[in-house]
Amino acid sequence: FDFDKRARAARGKTSAALRSAASGPFEPFQRDVPIPAVARPVRSSKKLEEYVMDMQPGMAEILPGYETPILGYNGSFPGPTVRARRGREVQILQRNRTNRSLNVHLHGGVTMPQYDGHPHDAIPAGEERLYKYPNVAHSSTLWYHDHAHGETAQTLFAGLAAFYLLDDPDDNHLDLPQGDFDVPLMITDRSFNKDGSFRYRLDLDRGFRGDTILVNGAVAPRMKVERRLYRLRFLNASNARAYNLVLGNDRDMIQIGSDGGLLPAPVKRKIIPMEPAERVDVIVDFRQFGVGSKVILHNQGGEPSTSAVMRFDVVRGTAEEARIPKLMREDDELPEPNAERSWPLTFQGLAGGASVWQIGGGGFSEMRIDCRPRQGSTELWTWRNLSNRTHPMHIHGYHFKIVSMNGKTPHPADQGWKDTVAVYPNETVVVMPYFDYFPGRYVFHCHAAEHGDMSMMGQMEVVA
Ligand code: C2O
Ligand code: CU
Repeated sequence: FDFDKRARAARGKTSAALRSAASGPFEPFQRDVPIPAVARPVRSSKKLEEYVMDMQPGMAEILPGYETPILGYNGSFPGPTVRARRGREVQILQRNRTNRSLNVHLHGGVTMPQYDGHPHDAIPAGEERLYKYPNVAHSSTLWYHDHAHGETAQTLFAGLAAFYLLDDPDDNHLDLPQGDFDVPLMITDRSFNKDGSFRYRLDLDRGFRGDTILVNGAVAPRMKVERRLYRLRFLNASNARAYNLVLGNDRDMIQIGSDGGLLPAPVKRKIIPMEPAERVDVIVDFRQFGVGSKVILHNQGGEPSTSAVMRFDVVRGTAEEARIPKLMREDDELPEPNAERSWPLTFQGLAGGASVWQIGGGGFSEMRIDCRPRQGSTELWTWRNLSNRTHPMHIHGYHFKIVSMNGKTPHPADQGWKDTVAVYPNETVVVMPYFDYFPGRYVFHCHAAEHGDMSMMGQMEVVA
């Protein structure tokens, strides 16, 4: 990647740093996990918080002793975390300080269509755009990332990704861990050139998979923890890699939330699969470990196989009497589905150099609307994977419930609100989207970034 002049200029510098660096930049557990800065509003009132952000090139120290050129929100990777509150609007003025067209999608967000980051709503180089987020939906772990048409694999890889945590004062009675004990953890994979810069290799079939796993932009970091409850908010912000998270020797993690926020009730899990763009909110009870324990979070069975994602070092005891809520969210009353749609997911080969991956027998076209659901309705959508790759299917602007996965009732942890679901090779997943909020034109697509770019994406127009 050659982001711009600043990155090019810095590349010489990183080579010099490389030669003099101490050995082993890929050594795990060398660094404390970086926590992305929380964005500061330029103005705020009871009803509205206003932010200004610059999408720009920057440098990140990902490998100790090296500088890696990135593209980031405010020049950082991960970008700044936005902390939003239900009922209070957030407006972000995004200024494109790069030399390419960009746009911003609040993934999992409920917004009017003009603020959703439709891939064709580009912000040309040097220009800016105001995004308005009403924060009307339930509390949830969201993220924002670039969605440039046909180039998301590159811009996401370059670093344009950050958390957006939507809290709801109505959740306060649940007494979930807060502040330093509520930790966003963005998992990505990358490969590197010798000078420390990111190395991308295009793989239209499987999508990019790097050889190094990062958490919040650091190689297998460590995190010092007390013997108490922590809330860990995992996000898989990788282009295409899936993870199977396992804590220590199969210790329980207590899943409390998924893409669309809190589950009805907590679910104990020993292995947590995460496809690109999925979020999993867990509580880990570190009281089960003694002071001095070092507990590794692994990626099980993937490539690199059974590798460390990060390590928790239990450094202190506390006398905290923490409890985990039994019930978190009421089940929602939903209207009966009033339409059924079937979407075959296929690989079409490079006929004419156009579409490769397709939904419903066609590649993406901005000129075509693939379906017109009615505002306020639910529908049954069947994702039928006729290929031998997994497709994490994502719908913009709304959430869905998973009705069945390959004919079976979904795992309890998959029974909450979702916006992205894994459709495994030759399997079928039925979901029920609820078109509850704003009408208008939105996309749905595969979140393996290379698939979405080429051109596994459809368009819907929700009619009022
Ligand atoms: Cu996170 Cu259209 O995607
Ligand atoms: Cu796909």
